[in-house]
Amino acid sequence: MVSLQHRFPFPLEEDRYLYSNNLKPLDPPCCIQVTTEYFDEVAEKRRLLEAHPERCFHALPGTLAAQWEVVDAVVHQLVENYPDCFTIEKRDDEWTFRNLLLNETDRFTFGDASTLPVQPLDWIGRHVQEDLLIMVQRDDDIYLEAGQLCFPSVWSLTFDLGMAFQEIHRPVPWSNELAEKIRRFLLRVEAGKPWTRLNWTLQVGRRLHIPPETFDEWGTARYQVTLENVADEVQFRVEEQCVLRLPGSNALLFSIHTYLKSVGELCDRPDWAHKLYSVLVTLPEQVVTYKGLAAYREQVIDYLGRCL
Ligand code: HEM
Repeated sequence: MVSLQHRFPFPLEEDRYLYSNNLKPLDPPCCIQVTTEYFDEVAEKRRLLEAHPERCFHALPGTLAAQWEVVDAVVHQLVENYPDCFTIEKRDDEWTFRNLLLNETDRFTFGDASTLPVQPLDWIGRHVQEDLLIMVQRDDDIYLEAGQLCFPSVWSLTFDLGMAFQEIHRPVPWSNELAEKIRRFLLRVEAGKPWTRLNWTLQVGRRLHIPPETFDEWGTARYQVTLENVADEVQFRVEEQCVLRLPGSNALLFSIHTYLKSVGELCDRPDWAHKLYSVLVTLPEQVVTYKGLAAYREQVIDYLGRCL
């Protein structure tokens, strides 16, 4: 019986919040984390992909080569880092992939999409908790051209598909200089030297799938946060993101692993509670508005203040 690891990467280093290029070298160079939530989250991804394929998977023509490179990279990260959970056997291009956690065996011809039931990026994404996005690099820019996105934090793959890095980030209240600095950084990411960063926000309720398309289902909960329910209802949402160069196509893989911890659970770690409290107290209004926190920030500050 394989025992899966609990994990919660805490993103706040300072007592104040500033947008920055917070990418760090990814060491060890593995974008995939198999955690205690594996079974629930992979089942939820597969359910969403069947129920809402138009929201959760898109690939523009011309992305197949990059998709196969993602299959190659992710399969090898899985078997090298989780040998008790995944295996691969290869005879030339005939691959046999075993997911021992789910007791599944998939056989396919590497490079021949007709031998898989769905597109290659969609197939490998159904074996991991991460959302997987492909940014194609051309004309000195990067464009979102394929992705499997089941756990978006209030953004739409359907809407953003085909957009360049700057267009995707237009709603973010950061300076044009910072956005340009990060864009130029991404253009120069080298194969074999992946990067990682943590992004955070707050949300109400434990749904991982919160796209703008369904705002009516989850959006109004933010107006119902009280001092009585804040500890359980408000979640600290952290995204562990990685950027990896795919050398054959020169595209970038952008992976996102999403973690939730309730504000009440956060108080088990007073150092974490203190950091979040300090950041929320000093958070610029523009960032409060952008992250959608205005309706319940005070309740969270009040609750965390009592835990300290
Ligand atoms: C290269 C692939 C990337 C993609 C596809 C991507 C996508 C996105 C999207 C869709 C959003 C939400 C925008 C909205 O509100 O509509 C976002 C927000 C953001 N992104 Fe990225 N991003 C990428 C890389 C990065 C990198 C490398 C950084 C920083 C080094 C970054 C920093 C941010 C920040 C700071 C926000 C605002 C988050 C918040 O305040 O809650 N992104 N990104």
